[in-house]
Amino acid sequence: MEIIVDQEIKDILGKIQNPVTGKTLADEKRLSAVEINGENIKVQYNREGIAPKEKRVIEDGIYDSLEDKFAEDNITIMSFSGDDSKDVFETHGVLAEGETAESAEGKTMHSHKAPAQPAQLKPGHGPNINSEVTIPGVKNIIAVASGKGGVGKSTFSVNLALSLKNQGKKVAILDADVYGPSIPMLLGKAEAKPIANDNQKIIPIESNGIGFMSFGLFIGESEPVIWRGPMLGGVLNQFFFDVDWGELDYLIIDLPPGTGDVQLSLVQSLKVDGAIVISTPQDVALLDAKKGVEMFKQLNTPILGMVENMSYFVTEESDKKYYIFGNGGVKSACEQMDLSFLGEVPLEIELREGSDKGQPYMNNSSYEGRPVWQSYMSISKNVLELMDDGKKKGFFSRIFK
Ligand SMILES: Nc1ncnc2c1ncn2[C@@H]1O[C@H](COP(=O)(O)OP(=O)(O)O)[C@@H](O)[C@H]1O
Ligand SMILES: [Mg+2]
Repeated sequence: MEIIVDQEIKDILGKIQNPVTGKTLADEKRLSAVEINGENIKVQYNREGIAPKEKRVIEDGIYDSLEDKFAEDNITIMSFSGDDSKDVFETHGVLAEGETAESAEGKTMHSHKAPAQPAQLKPGHGPNINSEVTIPGVKNIIAVASGKGGVGKSTFSVNLALSLKNQGKKVAILDADVYGPSIPMLLGKAEAKPIANDNQKIIPIESNGIGFMSFGLFIGESEPVIWRGPMLGGVLNQFFFDVDWGELDYLIIDLPPGTGDVQLSLVQSLKVDGAIVISTPQDVALLDAKKGVEMFKQLNTPILGMVENMSYFVTEESDKKYYIFGNGGVKSACEQMDLSFLGEVPLEIELREGSDKGQPYMNNSSYEGRPVWQSYMSISKNVLELMDDGKKKGFFSRIFK
């Protein structure tokens, strides 16, 4: 990057404090480049040794200090670590395709107001905002997403987690569905009150052999959630980094439905190892799910594959499968989009009943061998296989079973 020496701007930026050390960016020689191009400014700094939380404080400081001179949308902040020559490019106000500035208001963690001119995110040309940050002790992070609500995303998150636990893995769930947190209810712990340990870290609640943390434990049931943008990002970061997750093989993140603030905050703050998109077979649900897939592609998040929920219904009396919402929709969508089809989960009354009672299906071995049980075993095996293989090769293979 070409360095333009504008002493006034450099002085302003130099005075910003690194909250980790209390020294200024100038003292620590962190500002590596400041490029002014008409109404636009790019600031590049060295973020070595700075945790995501403090990094946000610094970047908010940069925006605030340039407020009088540059429109917020015209400020681009780039940071790099040590002598890492690959910049982590963090533009301001990047919108996913089809979104308006209004719908994305406050979406990036540095945003204070809606961008005036929506910038389009072009696949292949947009900045790579897939974070490299991991949670210490957590080996794999899997995000569970859906295009719309009510498709069984939370039920799936819980039962996938338990299936992995049944195979000897250490697993926890982060309920990031701020708008409809249902994991506490599904795990029979709706009344639990989280406490902090001596290091001020939140201790996950234990249930059915897995740990979890949820927004639902902090808000009243009838309270509307009004967190947006930076505030939401802050709370999410607290759940990522200020929860004592311990040593985990898998952290499953139950996302809100759709393609919104939480999804973007997540991939900006954390390295997601694999996303699973869940859908019912109907056309409408599938259309929304495809948008979810497209979002992860644009954000450079590896997609493990898709799962079809509520695929069919079987009665106890016969093996006949009733394809209530149509047959094979998700599998053929996977083939079209070149994604793995991880499996299908049929409808079963006991799955819903257990969920309502906070007694999850996959923790009840009397269901072993039933269609839903077999589905979850097969899906979780596919997940384990793909994750192991993907870690070795750096990409996920495709499976269509
Ligand atoms: N395979 C299934 N068979 C029967 N009921 C299901 C199945 N999957 C989900 N459900 C029920 O559907 C409802 C919505 O599921 P939920 O997991 O809350 O969806 P989401 O998290 O996508 O909003 C719940 O009542 C749940 O028990
Ligand atoms: Mg849910």
